[in-house]
Amino acid sequence: MEIVIVPDAAAGGELIATAIADLLTRKPDALLGVATGSTPLPIYEALAAKVRGTDLDVSRARICQLDEYVGLPKGHPESYRSVVLREVVEPLGLTESSFMGPDGSADDIAAACFAYDRALAAAGGVDLQLLGIGTDGHIGFNEPCSSLASRTRIKTLTERTRVDNARFFDNLDEVPHHVITQGIGTILEARHLVLLATGEGKADAVALTVEGPVSAVVPASALQLHPHATVVVDEAAASRLKLADYFRATWAAKPSWQSI
Ligand code: GLP
Repeated sequence: MEIVIVPDAAAGGELIATAIADLLTRKPDALLGVATGSTPLPIYEALAAKVRGTDLDVSRARICQLDEYVGLPKGHPESYRSVVLREVVEPLGLTESSFMGPDGSADDIAAACFAYDRALAAAGGVDLQLLGIGTDGHIGFNEPCSSLASRTRIKTLTERTRVDNARFFDNLDEVPHHVITQGIGTILEARHLVLLATGEGKADAVALTVEGPVSAVVPASALQLHPHATVVVDEAAASRLKLADYFRATWAAKPSWQSI
């Protein structure tokens, strides 16, 4: 696992957007897995700026969703489908036809989960999966004690995650209890995992993910099992890493031709 400590969220966004631009230059129809929440927004802003300001062509890119609330009405502005369309797909000049995600309003949720896992595989698999991290160490909506081999399925949110996400809703009661999430086993099938974490509030979760044991109680620690995982953190999120100096030195000495 590579750990990159950047000065701030904007620098993390720029670094990751550059890696995505490189990927889309090598493979124009790459399947890009995106995450929601506040953390990845600087990535999407930096990528959209590259599309506007350079000759980067993303017109053949494909975008897929990591997770979704269950039970929000279709088109709800805080459904992750709406969020990804608004924050990623539209700013990149793409349309819904380039996008795939699980159906959180399906009558048969189990069938929708199974269908999404199959659709990802049929699409050739995810080339680069962006991840944020919950304060309890979750990735996607894989809450603590999720099976490290799990597939896309329904999960119940912890109260802590519902409280963390209540800022996107009018009040806590509106935050759904149930969600669909790519499983940890599903996420680990992506060719490259890139997790961005910023702010002091993520420092404990980052330290456990990077320097703790692989454990279902810290779902993000499963990244240690992936052959190509990159964790990008700002100084605040890195503040509890014991090996921070080593990670800084490794990054500083990295050959310029080698990307993340
Ligand atoms: C939600 C999402 C995660 C995201 C997390 C952290 O739970 N399902 O994918 O990583 O929130 O969000 P934020 O980046 O806003 O802290």
